[in-house]
Amino acid sequence: MPEQTESVRKAGKIASEARDYGAKLVKEGARALDVAEAVEKKIRELGAAPAFPCNVSFNHTAAHDLPSHGDTRVFKDGDVVKLDIGAHVDGWVSDTAVTVVVGKNELGGKLKAAAELALQNAIKLMVPGNTIGDVSAAIEKTIRDAGFNPVVNLTGHGVGQYEVHTAPAIPNIGTKSPYVLKEGDVFAIEPFVTTGVGMVKETSGTQIYRWTSDRHTRLPESTKILQIARERYARLPFAKRWLVSDANVTPAKLALVIKGLVENGSLYEYPPLREVSDAPVAQAEHTVIVGKEPEVVTA
Ligand code: CO
Repeated sequence: MPEQTESVRKAGKIASEARDYGAKLVKEGARALDVAEAVEKKIRELGAAPAFPCNVSFNHTAAHDLPSHGDTRVFKDGDVVKLDIGAHVDGWVSDTAVTVVVGKNELGGKLKAAAELALQNAIKLMVPGNTIGDVSAAIEKTIRDAGFNPVVNLTGHGVGQYEVHTAPAIPNIGTKSPYVLKEGDVFAIEPFVTTGVGMVKETSGTQIYRWTSDRHTRLPESTKILQIARERYARLPFAKRWLVSDANVTPAKLALVIKGLVENGSLYEYPPLREVSDAPVAQAEHTVIVGKEPEVVTA
């Protein structure tokens, strides 16, 4: 649909620029929080808004790791860091990710290369008439040929207006998914590669939330928090730390309010996803428009 195509192109260009800018900031001794904030600021300066907070996932954490308010974590030599970045224009989402290997880590470099090759091989198949099963099979084969395992319970996905994940999914292992790609379909493809068994599980330390409904708690701040989540973040995922200044509450109070809102079903939470065998994970991601010449909007 033309409205989506134009906005996704603009959002894609901005996400891509913010990703490349952020990747250069990931250096030994730099703080993850500074990188996340710089990337989010860049997206706004370029004329879009974050479609979700800048994920900064370390080593065996595949995704949804996010620096918290006052987070002091710094990058160390050998870290395998994933920056996952989303921008939206009028709600139309683009999604892209890159792996940065800090300093020297030969295995990390190989994982990154395998993820990037799997992504490129998948993109070539994003032409009308192919099935998602064809794309998934290419991702899996590329990763296994490199001697690694795909993460089987993380997938690529469609992107929509004010929706980061829409059906159908693009699995990272060969499936019989019969969905036939159509000209103009927009998908984010994101192979995850690991030396581990290739599964992730939810872990503690959630920093990402999304509004789902307005069920207030007895804490007076809950009304304000829900209103910000619904209106300012347009029902897209947001970072807990954004609300410290937005809602002018202390981090401790905020944590309490958010806990109640998750428990009563008003907020949906995205916990960090850790590889079950604690093995390092690399990721590569682009948003692609299906066509005879597939168009990578986040190139
Ligand atoms: Co994605």
